[in-house]
Amino acid sequence: MNFRKAKTSEFTAIAELDRVAWLESFKGAFIPDGEHAWRLWVEYALTFVALENDKIIGVSLAFPCTDDSYAIHKLFVDKSYRGKGIGTELMRILLEEIDRLEVDSFLTVYPKNPPAIALYTKLGFTDKKFEKDFYGQDEDRYILTRRKRV
Ligand SMILES: CC(C)(COP(=O)(O)OP(=O)(O)OC[C@H]1O[C@@H](n2cnc3c(N)ncnc32)[C@H](O)[C@@H]1OP(=O)(O)O)[C@@H](O)C(=O)NCCC(=O)NCCS
Repeated sequence: MNFRKAKTSEFTAIAELDRVAWLESFKGAFIPDGEHAWRLWVEYALTFVALENDKIIGVSLAFPCTDDSYAIHKLFVDKSYRGKGIGTELMRILLEEIDRLEVDSFLTVYPKNPPAIALYTKLGFTDKKFEKDFYGQDEDRYILTRRKRV
């Protein structure tokens, strides 16, 4: 297993895995983020990948916001590789970079996603705010925040 920053050329493979992972979500048939967003994120934001035999099996992404914080917008692992610590490692290396920048970070998570919530809490996202209909009707989210480490 190998973890590193994504290459620009990998954006379509990343978008493909994202589409499959997103299908599991509530109202997951429609994916709001596609190839064009990934093309920009891999080059201009922080995108990390996990690879097994050169195949991308997991991704984490954060992008900067106008208030100087970072939004952690993506974390997913291929279903057949879950429960092995890959999601934790992808988040850990992303947060290492965020800590170097000395900025706050936040993310949104579906309230009925215990594996993701457990992972984020373990890594320091301890402020939790509930927002009803965040992404649309019944698409509620928790907004979890992690304060900068100085
Ligand atoms: C969330 C996700 C990225 C976790 O990836 P993973 O590689 O399985 O994660 P890890 O093996 O590092 O486990 C991380 C933590 O999740 C929790 N966890 C894992 N599987 C779990 C399960 N089935 N039920 C409850 N908690 C679970 C544990 O707390 C675990 O930490 P621990 O091993 O120290 O106890 C993965 O489930 C996924 O891709 N889900 C679909 C996409 C998604 O929901 N992304 C998050 C959107 S906000």
